[in-house]
Amino acid sequence: MTRDDALALDATDALAPLRQQFTLPEGLIYLDGNSLGMPPKRTLERLTEVYLQEWATDLIRSWSHWVDLPQRVGDVLAPLIGAGPGEVVLHDNTTLCVYQAVHAAIGLRPERHVIAISADDFPTDRYVVDGIATALHGYRVQHGFERLDDVAVIVRSVIDYRTAELVDVAAETARAHAAGAMVVWDLSHAAGAIEIDLRECGVQLAIGCTYKFLNGGPGAPAWTYVARELHNTIRQPIWGWFATENQFAMGPTFQPRADIARMLLGTPSILALTAAQVGVELSAEAGMQAIHTKGRALTGLALDLCDQHGLATPTPRDPARRGNHVAVQHPRAKALVQELAARDVIFDFREPNIIRAGCSPLTTRFVDVYDGLVAVAAAG
Ligand SMILES: Cc1ncc(COP(=O)(O)O)c(C=O)c1O
Repeated sequence: MTRDDALALDATDALAPLRQQFTLPEGLIYLDGNSLGMPPKRTLERLTEVYLQEWATDLIRSWSHWVDLPQRVGDVLAPLIGAGPGEVVLHDNTTLCVYQAVHAAIGLRPERHVIAISADDFPTDRYVVDGIATALHGYRVQHGFERLDDVAVIVRSVIDYRTAELVDVAAETARAHAAGAMVVWDLSHAAGAIEIDLRECGVQLAIGCTYKFLNGGPGAPAWTYVARELHNTIRQPIWGWFATENQFAMGPTFQPRADIARMLLGTPSILALTAAQVGVELSAEAGMQAIHTKGRALTGLALDLCDQHGLATPTPRDPARRGNHVAVQHPRAKALVQELAARDVIFDFREPNIIRAGCSPLTTRFVDVYDGLVAVAAAG
């Protein structure tokens, strides 16, 4: 594999023109799409429009169409993850969405008092689960998913944030449901990265962020998916006025809405939702099939380069078993990521020894993967 081979792959890449739709710092090799995706140019245009027209000119009148923006952006996101219309809503952050979804799930399994999560899962998911089990008397946390017979809810990432290993979501959901457990899937590294069909996989609850592969911007709102059949039965613990029937009747008591909006809390951030919408729309325009295919090719190239340069990686070789990043294990990972960043080659470092190369199909070029991995190898 040579640099010319990588350039040849870029020359025939159907998604390559999309890169022009992003603001790109000159000369930067950016392999960090799974911590923060790049900014679409259209985001600035759209934010300016919303600022000048909807906020500065129309002022309070804009709430007539802002009020259901969380659901409308949810409907743009839904087909990207195999959800139906009215099953996804954007709001708050992933941490809060995990908290609500776990509560909603344990409310449906009141006779069980165990929450299962991997000891290796992303910290915020583990901390939220620990916090809930501590706050609720009689609950305990189980690490691992082997025994599920007394588990109320499993919280699990679809793609491992360190290794990029992809779980068999359909099989694991079916196994959990057969054992009587609910599952909350975290799609933070999957949404906008890989093709996934939540309905076909039998998934009932899922959450994720929009600032990684969906290019929604720093701190962009997260999202919650609830399968339609649960809309009338789930209860979430934070009873805010955006989740109540007849919100503007200002009634004496909370009556959860019959739709996905019952997962909402209070006033949504319209500017953040506007930015998220643009990012989600760009992925929708590109199509998840093309994004998925390019993701396999970019990560395949990164793995080939690891082999070529003797770099160790725990990322699965099977393209069907990995997400859109490649983890390189390196004894000097932390220092190396800093040294390379100073030379405008951006990776992530993840404890204890992982250099994470994020491959974002809308913006990452094959030559970026080549140059980035060669820079790691050369730095020794
Ligand atoms: C799997 C996973 N869950 C959650 C989060 C972050 O949660 P939040 O958006 O609340 O900061 C991340 C962030 O990288 C993540 O990788």
